[in-house]
Amino acid sequence: MLKLKNSPYSIEELESYQREITELHEAMEARTSLGAEYLGWLHAPSSFETKEMERLLDLAAKIRDEADVLVVAGIGGSYLGADALIRAFKPAFGANKPEILFCGNNLSAAYMQELLDYLCDKRFFVNVISKSGRTVETALAFRFLKKELQERYGQEAAGRYIIATTDAESGALRRQVEEEGYESFVVPADIGGRYSVMSAVGLFPMAVAGLDIIGFIEGMVQAEEDFSSAKLKENTAYRYALTRKLLYDKGNLLEILVSYEPALGQFAEWYKQLFGESEGKNGGGIFPMAVANTTDLHSLGQIIQEGPKIFFETVLDLRKPSGLILPVVEGDDDLAYLEGEEIFSMGKKALLATLLAHEEAGVTNLLLEVKEYSERALGYLMYFMMKACAMSAYLGGVNPFDQPGVEAYKNNMLALLGSPSYQEYKGPIEKKLKERGLL
Ligand code: PA5
Repeated sequence: MLKLKNSPYSIEELESYQREITELHEAMEARTSLGAEYLGWLHAPSSFETKEMERLLDLAAKIRDEADVLVVAGIGGSYLGADALIRAFKPAFGANKPEILFCGNNLSAAYMQELLDYLCDKRFFVNVISKSGRTVETALAFRFLKKELQERYGQEAAGRYIIATTDAESGALRRQVEEEGYESFVVPADIGGRYSVMSAVGLFPMAVAGLDIIGFIEGMVQAEEDFSSAKLKENTAYRYALTRKLLYDKGNLLEILVSYEPALGQFAEWYKQLFGESEGKNGGGIFPMAVANTTDLHSLGQIIQEGPKIFFETVLDLRKPSGLILPVVEGDDDLAYLEGEEIFSMGKKALLATLLAHEEAGVTNLLLEVKEYSERALGYLMYFMMKACAMSAYLGGVNPFDQPGVEAYKNNMLALLGSPSYQEYKGPIEKKLKERGLL
């Protein structure tokens, strides 16, 4: 289902690192690697409980019947997977019913106000997703939505419209589930946010959107099997991880994920979070970027072709099929030579033309070919990315599953906002900002 092509390294070259890869692979499987307590995703697809799947599908069907909108409140790994997949399959124009809207992933007052205005005459349900149950952006958005529901239906009945996805035991969200009796799903303790798309975190919003989540999990199960070997010859995910590392060691500090399908715009955001938060530590890591071609060939294409060569590209050949053919029209628009051509195959020619142009300018272009555009294929690709990402981070000597760097902004923000737990930092932070004339 997936092929990695156009690598600058032969399998023989890669195999000289086989020992290191095998050691890291075995440590992952034996749960002795860094952050091993968060390796639950490795075999989660093949052990997904049928009963939980049925409950999830039943609740999703009820919401599909009753709702105009499902509002998903979550940030980072708590929304990017679902958003990526829903956008990959929903038509580019017009809203689905139910419409799936995301919030709790920013602190824009205008965004929240506009969402509340939009919802005022709509029947909506809320899926609030937070593993920790204490992420400020998400908790704030949830409070607004909860208030709106309580004003509409009264405190008790409002709970019928809320589904929480959170830790089994801890956090303010789980406490609210227990006190207010919301329906809930569990984010498994051994699966971190950006690896959680195969849990209810990703699956429930996808099911409400009408996506084939069984196919999605089947694709993941297939990938779990296909990328289970330690051998580079048999494991494309490890070949991709090692190729990235070798390119990085040669001064390629950035990876640009190149897509030719607008519907995959949010998939690129998911990829950026996955790799950026997993690898970017201790002053190292490949900076993940993304471009959407051919759109970006008319903006960033110039600097990619002729700017500093500090990056490589990973070109995703995964395009939404359509039999659209260039029609015959009256009048000369210089396109007569293309009449009767399929636009889909023109997309491939644009991809190959660009690959060659960039390569000839000195940019390495890896090609990731995925033959099918389906939930199953996206499940397969996402598992591939997660397996490659974990191995990449291990090759860089870091824990793929923590994000200590994210705490710095959070601490400052919570101190400035006056959170009682951060009181002691408020004064010193305000002082620093005043000295810079920023407060
Ligand atoms: O990958 C991660 O762990 C993070 O991006 C989290 O998903 C994000 O910070 C949201 O956390 P939470 O689900 O606890 O609200």
